[in-house]
Amino acid sequence: MRIARTTAEIRRQLKPLRSRQTIAFVPTMGCLHAGHMSLIEKAGKLADIVVVSIYVNPLQFAAGEDLDAYPRTFDKDATLCRNAGVDFLFHPATLYPKNGPTITLKATQLSDCLCGASRPGHFDGVITVVNILFNMIQPDFAIFGEKDWQQLAIIRRMVEDLQMPVEIVGSDIIREADGLAMSSRNRYLSDADRKQALALYQALRAMQQSALAGEKHVKTLKSVAQNILDAADIRPEYLDIRCAHSLTTKRMLNEQPARAFIAARVGKARLIDNMPLAFNTTPEPASCTEDSR
Ligand code: PAJ
Repeated sequence: MRIARTTAEIRRQLKPLRSRQTIAFVPTMGCLHAGHMSLIEKAGKLADIVVVSIYVNPLQFAAGEDLDAYPRTFDKDATLCRNAGVDFLFHPATLYPKNGPTITLKATQLSDCLCGASRPGHFDGVITVVNILFNMIQPDFAIFGEKDWQQLAIIRRMVEDLQMPVEIVGSDIIREADGLAMSSRNRYLSDADRKQALALYQALRAMQQSALAGEKHVKTLKSVAQNILDAADIRPEYLDIRCAHSLTTKRMLNEQPARAFIAARVGKARLIDNMPLAFNTTPEPASCTEDSR
């Protein structure tokens, strides 16, 4: 595995390979866990060469968020990548000019709800950095986790709208044995927080099961989840059911794929999770329009 720390270096390393081999890219902020490793494994199956980046992107953190506290565990991450057969690890010190970027990307849809509502500018920071990374790596495939479903939806739309020559591949959420979605931020949780955090998964599962049992009213489904969160003393930042693709709100489940989303602060961690509801088992239509915001 080769490690590159500058744009010039990664470009030089990849240039001779590009004409003969396909590249799959996994962008991360490090502190790698089994969720990230599942994306890396998928990348290895998709392409000849696997490139992973580790960069804690300041542009996607608002003032007062955990940019400084975000766990940085590069040596351990590098070992995990090497053992997983990663070919190139890109770990830049920075990706922006000294005084910050003059040009950035902005999402005009999909980013004003869910996490975007409480983290204004967050997704603009994400798509700006992903665009920069795509320009550097020029991957054939880029793999993103469904754990960050809204991020995945926005990146898919960016690639579509800007006609970027890369295929975006989504990957399943990897969970702890009891169901808690893996996250680099789980390490902020105390033992008590860890027990409380499980309620996010339990609330999502309860909605999923109610939907499977035939409950179609979003209001009722949400109250099932709310009761579980209340019992765990969790006040969610949001608890929502939306169209999986357009992220528009829904009043009733129907044949269009729907997804349930929860974000909540537990102890020092802000946790997010999501799950498909009922009709996602049928082939998904390209888009949906119900209840547009
Ligand atoms: P990060 O939080 O490090 O996540 C990197 C990738 O791992 C994302 O695609 C995320 O969805 C995926 N991931 C995280 N936890 C997962 C889990 N439990 N199961 C499956 N996949 C999981 O997301 C980011 O970094 C950044 O926003 C980034 C895209 C790198 C831009 O800075």
